[in-house]
Amino acid sequence: MGLLDGKVAIVTGAGRGIGRDEALLLASEGAKLVINDVGASLQGEGGDKSPAQDVADIIIANGGEAVVNGDDISTWNGGKNVIEQAVDTFGSMDILVNNAGILRDKMSFNMNESDWDDVIRVHLKGHFAPAQHAAVYWRNKAKSGEEVTGRIINTSSEAGLYGNAGQANYSTAKGGIVSLTWVLARELERYGVTVNAIAPRARTRMTENLFGEMAKSDEGFDEWDPKNVANLIGFLASDNAADVTGQIFVVFGGNVWAMGGFVPVGELHRDHAWTPSELADAKGDLFKGVSSGIPKFSFF
Ligand SMILES: NC(=O)c1ccc[n+]([C@@H]2O[C@H](COP(=O)([O-])OP(=O)(O)OC[C@H]3O[C@@H](n4cnc5c(N)ncnc54)[C@H](O)[C@@H]3O)[C@@H](O)[C@H]2O)c1
Repeated sequence: MGLLDGKVAIVTGAGRGIGRDEALLLASEGAKLVINDVGASLQGEGGDKSPAQDVADIIIANGGEAVVNGDDISTWNGGKNVIEQAVDTFGSMDILVNNAGILRDKMSFNMNESDWDDVIRVHLKGHFAPAQHAAVYWRNKAKSGEEVTGRIINTSSEAGLYGNAGQANYSTAKGGIVSLTWVLARELERYGVTVNAIAPRARTRMTENLFGEMAKSDEGFDEWDPKNVANLIGFLASDNAADVTGQIFVVFGGNVWAMGGFVPVGELHRDHAWTPSELADAKGDLFKGVSSGIPKFSFF
């Protein structure tokens, strides 16, 4: 008995890294899997289908069910195809894990148009395109009287929550994914769908040059293992998380942080407008003496 017996799941970008471990974990809990991956380089170039096939082969060898989808998830048709493939192959679609991503890190003054467009497209449109078609599918199902236990789990980043220098394209997309998570959570709750997002930290080709301290050790708990992240996906995808929606989690090793949304840090109130000079005089009250609104990294 697995937590996800009988469920059908899609993981985008599941050929490598975190998505690979998420797909393997969902399958180990009994879900049938669509392994989406275009097989891109870290920068989003090329197309090698073998990593996605390898993941499907492992699932099948372990007695599970899996098919490969090689669509570019950042296209409208790619989003449509992957949902249709799940329904056509397995008869339903219950869990969508939006994970695919690329990186083109540069300072804003060095960034070119395609660095911006491609990263925004793969992350933001790559989340919305499958989510939009999943939303249509679940809404139609709910309206026809069938029970829906839909799950969308998005992938943000601490770069999106805090804003990271050198990642204008990536941080903007990942911040947008947080807003998208809240919008979809509001819109789909009435149809039986929860929508949450994770901001993971794990050792993959995306981060192997970033964090010096995450070299793999043969001894003890490997806190940088992407499997640690995958466990949270298993919980969020399950019926145990039916009452969890609109949440943003930072997840790393044995740590899971539920992150709060925006809250006021200072305020001014009166029954008529403030002039620019009056605002200048009142800024101590408004900002409580701290004028920079750049959030402090909580965990580094
Ligand atoms: N590794 C971390 O510590 C970390 C931190 C924060 C956020 N993330 C996010 O986690 C997700 C997974 O990252 P990772 O570290 O496993 O990276 P990764 O490069 O190992 O895996 C990303 C996968 O996405 C696939 N992909 C890229 N563009 C695609 C497209 N258009 N359509 C379908 N598939 C596509 C790639 O082929 C690759 O297999 C990304 O969204 C990333 O931004 C990772």
